[in-house]
Amino acid sequence: MCGIVGYVGDKTAVPLLVEGLKKLEYRGYDSAGVAVLDEGSLTVKKSVGKLAALESKLGDEMPQTTVGIGHTRWATHGRPSDRNSHPHTDCTGKIAVVHNGIIENYLELREWLSGQEHAFSSETDTEVLPHLVEEFYTGNLEEAVHRVLGMVKGSYAMVVLHQDEPDKLVAARKDSPLVVGLGDGEYFIASDIPALLNHTRKTYILNDGEVAVLTRQGVKITDSKGNVIPKQVFQVNWSAEAAEKGGYDHFMLKEIHEQPRALRETISSRLAADNTHVILREVGMTAEEINKIRNIRIVACGTASYAGMVGKNVIEKLARIPVEVDIASEFRYCDPLLTPETLVVIISQSGETADTLAALREAKKNGCRVLAVTNVVGSSVSREADDVIYTWAGPEIAVASTKAYITQLAAMYLLALYLGQVRGTVGQELAQELIAELKNIPGKVQRILDGAPLIRDLSQTFTDVEDAFFIGRGLDYAVSMEGSLKLKEISYIHAEAYAAGELKHGTLALIVDKVPVIALATQESLFEKTLSNIQEVRARDAKVIGMVFEGNNQMKKSADYVLYIPRTHQFLAPLLSVVPLQLLAYYVSLARGCDVDKPRNLAKSVTVE
Ligand code: G6P
Repeated sequence: MCGIVGYVGDKTAVPLLVEGLKKLEYRGYDSAGVAVLDEGSLTVKKSVGKLAALESKLGDEMPQTTVGIGHTRWATHGRPSDRNSHPHTDCTGKIAVVHNGIIENYLELREWLSGQEHAFSSETDTEVLPHLVEEFYTGNLEEAVHRVLGMVKGSYAMVVLHQDEPDKLVAARKDSPLVVGLGDGEYFIASDIPALLNHTRKTYILNDGEVAVLTRQGVKITDSKGNVIPKQVFQVNWSAEAAEKGGYDHFMLKEIHEQPRALRETISSRLAADNTHVILREVGMTAEEINKIRNIRIVACGTASYAGMVGKNVIEKLARIPVEVDIASEFRYCDPLLTPETLVVIISQSGETADTLAALREAKKNGCRVLAVTNVVGSSVSREADDVIYTWAGPEIAVASTKAYITQLAAMYLLALYLGQVRGTVGQELAQELIAELKNIPGKVQRILDGAPLIRDLSQTFTDVEDAFFIGRGLDYAVSMEGSLKLKEISYIHAEAYAAGELKHGTLALIVDKVPVIALATQESLFEKTLSNIQEVRARDAKVIGMVFEGNNQMKKSADYVLYIPRTHQFLAPLLSVVPLQLLAYYVSLARGCDVDKPRNLAKSVTVE
C-alpha cells in the first residue's frame, strides 16, 4: 500500500524522507517521489521502480531544504509510471500533494476542474487534490485544505506543501492512517509508525476528519470544522518489527483486520449512491456484447479459484449465464471448449501466477474476451486482459490470502450484478436490496472482528487435532473450501471441504469420535437439509461447530459450538462467513506454534508451473 512521510525541522529533509520511505518498503510499492522547497521554489523528483531509482535521480547534490514530503505509491488508478507517481502538483507548480486511499468522486471533480481550465498530467485520482487546493487557495493553505475536504468523497491520508507557505505541512485523514511524530523543534508525519521510530516515539494518532498543521513551532490539530482540538500524546512502545505489523502479531492478523477498509475501497465507488445500479466503467463490453455471452469460464489458482466458486454461484443466479470454474493448471492443458461467445474471467491477486497467465493466453488464442480481477495494477494479467476489475485490497504480505480473497468476492458480486442489470435478469428490487446491503457489509465484518477473542478461545480445542472437515451447501460449500484451505495451509491440520449432502457417499467413514466438523448453514433455503447432514456426523460423535446468522436458535440444539455472524442477505453471506474461518485458522496456527505468515513449503506468488 502507499506510504507517506513528511518533515518540518532544521535538518536536511531529503535523506530523512528517503530513510522514512525505506522503512515503509515492506508494504509494497511500485514508484516513489519527494517534493521539497529548494531555494524557495518547489522541486519534485519521482521515479517508477524502487527507492534506489529515486535516489539516483536525486543524485549527490540534494537540495539542502528542511521541509518536504515523500511517497511510495502502490498503483490503483493508473499504471505504475513516473507520471502517475506522487507527489502530484497543481497548474502553477507551487502546490504538491501526497495521498493514500481513493478519491471516489475524482472523475466528477476532474471534469469540473477541467472546466475551470485546470490541466491534468496523470491518470490518478490523487491529482484532483493539488488542483482543488489551487482553486481554493487565497493565501491560507489550512483554509484551502478544509474547503477541499468538503468536496472530496472516499478515503484519504494526505499531506500538502505550498511554496508560498514554505515552513508548513497541512495533513488530513479519513479512513486511511496518518501519524504525527513529535521531535524537538522538528515534526514528522507518516502513514505508518515504522517511518518515525528512528527519530521519535512520541506521536499523535490522527482520527478521521482531523487536520494537522505542522510548522517548526509545533503542531496544531483541528476538527473538520477548523476548531482546535487537544490531542493526547501516544507513546509508541512497539519494536520496529511489531510496528511494521501495525502492532499486530502477524501480517495475516493485520490483513484480516484490514478487510473492512479493503472492502470499502473496492466497492464504494462502484455502487450508485441511490443503490439503483453498479458502476463498472472498467468493463468495456457493450450491452450487445454482454447480451451475446453464452458461457463464462472462471480460471484461477488456490484461494482465487475459491472466490471463483462463489462467483459462479452468484453470476448464475443474477445474470443467468452458465459458469464453470477451472483450475488454471488444468485449464491450460484440457483443450478447453471456447468460442468467441465465451467470456473468460481470470482471478489472480498477484496477476503473475504462471498457470493463470498461461490460461489467459490460451483464452486469448481462442478468440475469447478476457476480463481479469486482480489486485496489482500493471501486473502481467492486467496488461494482457481486455478488461480489468481491480480489487483495492492493498498489498498482501502473509502467504495465506485473506483481504485479497474477500475483495475478490466483492468483485464477483459487482460483476454478477452488473451483468444481470445489463441483461435484465436481475429484478430492480433485488438489485437495490443487494447494493444497499453490500454497503453494510464492511461494518458487519468489523463486528465479527470485534468478536475475535471468542474464536481464539475455540481454537484452543484444535491443538491436537489431526483432521477437520468443512461442510455446507450452495454458497456455504464454496466458502467451506476456502475455510478448509486456510486451516490446512497455516496449521498443517489435514482439512477437507465437502458439499454437505455428499459426505455420506464415502467421507462419512472418516467421521469418528471428536473429529471437528465445521458446518456452515447460512443459506436459509437449504438450512433444514444442512441440519440433517449435521445430524449424520453427530451420530458418529463428531464435534460440530455450526455457523449461522444471529437470531437462529436451532443450530445450538445440534452443534457443540455455534459461531454467529450478523444477519445479511443469503446471497452475500460468503462475505461474512469466511471471516470467522480466517480467524479460526489464524488462532489454530498460533496455538500449534506454526509459522503463520510463512507456512512451510508455500510461496506467496507462484511464478513457475
Ligand atoms: C499461491 C498463494 C495463494 C494464492 C495462489 C494464487 O498459492 O499462496 O494464496 O491463492 O497462489 O495466487 P494469485 O496471485 O494468482 O491469486
